[in-house]
Amino acid sequence: MDFETLCIHSERNIDNPTGAVATPIYQTATFAHPGPGETTGYDYSRQQNPTREQLEYVIAGLEGAAGALAFASGMAAVAALMELFSPGDHIIAANDLYGGTHRLFQQISEKNGLTFSAASETEQIEDLITPKTKAVFLETPTNPMMQTFNIARAAQVTAPRGILLIVDNTFLTPYFQKPLKLGADIVLHSGTKYLSGHNDTIAGFLAVKTPEVEEKLRFISKTTGAALAPFDSFLIIRGIKTLAARMEKQQENAKKIAIWLRTQQAVTAVHYPGIGAMISFRVTDKALAEQILARVQIIQYAESLGGTESLITYPVTQTHADVPEEERLAIGIDACLLRLSVGLESAADLTADLTQALGQ
Ligand SMILES: Cc1ncc(COP(=O)(O)O)c(C=O)c1O
Repeated sequence: MDFETLCIHSERNIDNPTGAVATPIYQTATFAHPGPGETTGYDYSRQQNPTREQLEYVIAGLEGAAGALAFASGMAAVAALMELFSPGDHIIAANDLYGGTHRLFQQISEKNGLTFSAASETEQIEDLITPKTKAVFLETPTNPMMQTFNIARAAQVTAPRGILLIVDNTFLTPYFQKPLKLGADIVLHSGTKYLSGHNDTIAGFLAVKTPEVEEKLRFISKTTGAALAPFDSFLIIRGIKTLAARMEKQQENAKKIAIWLRTQQAVTAVHYPGIGAMISFRVTDKALAEQILARVQIIQYAESLGGTESLITYPVTQTHADVPEEERLAIGIDACLLRLSVGLESAADLTADLTQALGQ
């Protein structure tokens, strides 16, 4: 099946006596057993829930994964992932990452004995490998500077050494990029973003290449207990039905807006990798950045991305506020940088909104 069809029809055939077209929400904490030592296959919703399972099946299908796990947030997925590692293990991570991931690595994982090195480009990864390196963790494009890594080239370095290659695919989704096909071992998502697509649910995913890693992560998920709730699972299944159409249209809008931004005198840099619908851009000064945030009307000044509504974010005080200033400034996250998640509104309305916000 083509991707568009998979988004709509990749749910698994399960017992469906009514012929319901939409996936039922199994809003139950627990499941009755037929008798001693017997199970229907479902025991307790922290471990298994039919609605969540359908969603996991859909995500695995879209990413071409052996399996996928749904978590209560993207950060819950990252936190579960970190449980694969032990004190002393070393991880190479992209130097530009979502601020929450950076915070977890620096303020929780390091406290738990993991060590990290930062790579700013694919070619640096090999030089940073030590005998203790267990994983490489990339975002591509990165949040918010939109740098890209070459996943296939990174895999050529990690795979022969048995190092896990983990890719946060939140920005592009499997519609534009399938990291497992390029050689990654684990794909991470903030499902809150394009997979949900409507700015109404928080969710996270890990999609894995091998059943062995899936089994380890299922043990971690059932033990640490941050699995996605049935209603939220339903919302993401519904969101994914329109993923292909949304990604296509949002990208079309973003391309127009990136071109337009490049013609604006007050805009001193535009970071858009030519794919997807995320843009970051710099303006001449802090006062103008704040003016834009205060004046936008259709675009909303809010932290998040990937939904139908266009959102503008101020990384320096929002998503990346906890990244130490020196590190932030070194990668270009300062008071002049704005991040724009281009939504599904008309591109003309969005540029008109930005024009008035820029004060022109
Ligand atoms: C690239 C990326 N990864 C992970 C996360 C964390 O996901 P969540 O907010 O769903 O916990 C985010 C959140 O903004 C993100 O942008």
